Amino acid sequence: MKNVVFVSASPKINEQSVSKEFLEMAASLINATEFSKTFIDVRKSISAHKLSEDFETFSKAEVIIISFPLYYFCMPGILTRFLEDYYHSHTISGNISNKVKVYAIVNCGFPEPETNLEAVRVIKSFSRHIKAEFRFGVLIGGGPMMFAAKNAPFMKKAVQKLNNAFLSIAEDIQQENFAKPDHIYIGVNFPKRLYFFMGGRGWITSARKNGLQKKDLYKKPYRLNE
Ligand SMILES: Cc1cc2nc3c(=O)[nH]c(=O)nc-3n(C[C@H](O)[C@H](O)[C@H](O)COP(=O)(O)O)c2cc1C
Repeated sequence: MKNVVFVSASPKINEQSVSKEFLEMAASLINATEFSKTFIDVRKSISAHKLSEDFETFSKAEVIIISFPLYYFCMPGILTRFLEDYYHSHTISGNISNKVKVYAIVNCGFPEPETNLEAVRVIKSFSRHIKAEFRFGVLIGGGPMMFAAKNAPFMKKAVQKLNNAFLSIAEDIQQENFAKPDHIYIGVNFPKRLYFFMGGRGWITSARKNGLQKKDLYKKPYRLNE
């Protein structure tokens, strides 16, 4: 039985994570009678001090599926740290030898799925470093909307594409000599201006929840000369 390890890496603590939901959706399409499934939540792994245990699990994977949100046009710091520490603790000591297949599911707030490409390249580079085989990425634009409005009629096509993309992962992990597919790009079909307006409202609501005002969102604390 092949061992599939699912890694979710949203820095969110108490809120629902979109990337985790996508990962669970992908996991539900993988046949449980043929594959054993183990889940690692990077955020929890760090806060519960169970990194060594999870690195052990990670090192035994035959398939790794990593799902994470785009943060500042790359992957969240907790995931960078997790993968770097794993690399230092396991590959430098020479523990890695098996051929592992790696997939990335990356979702972002901007509607264009291409925004995630650089982050996928980082996972590809990591795969090379651990001598694993990076297969392909599922790049999702407008992730929060895709998830929140998944039952709305205008999302039907995008949700279908999402399902097909995750089915492609499920098929690809079963094949030995399958030609390498291209990345899969999925965006939301929604008027852009309205999308950005709603996104802006979301940031303002978040600011208020955190005791800030709208104008605080425009502060530039990183400018030394102001
Ligand atoms: C601090 C922060 C930085 C973000 N940076 C980007 C970004 O650079 N580009 C983008 O399109 N979305 C960005 N987003 C949006 C997230 O990628 C998006 O909301 C994602 O669905 C969150 O997934 P999660 O619920 O699993 O954390 C950012 C969100 C936060 C909170």
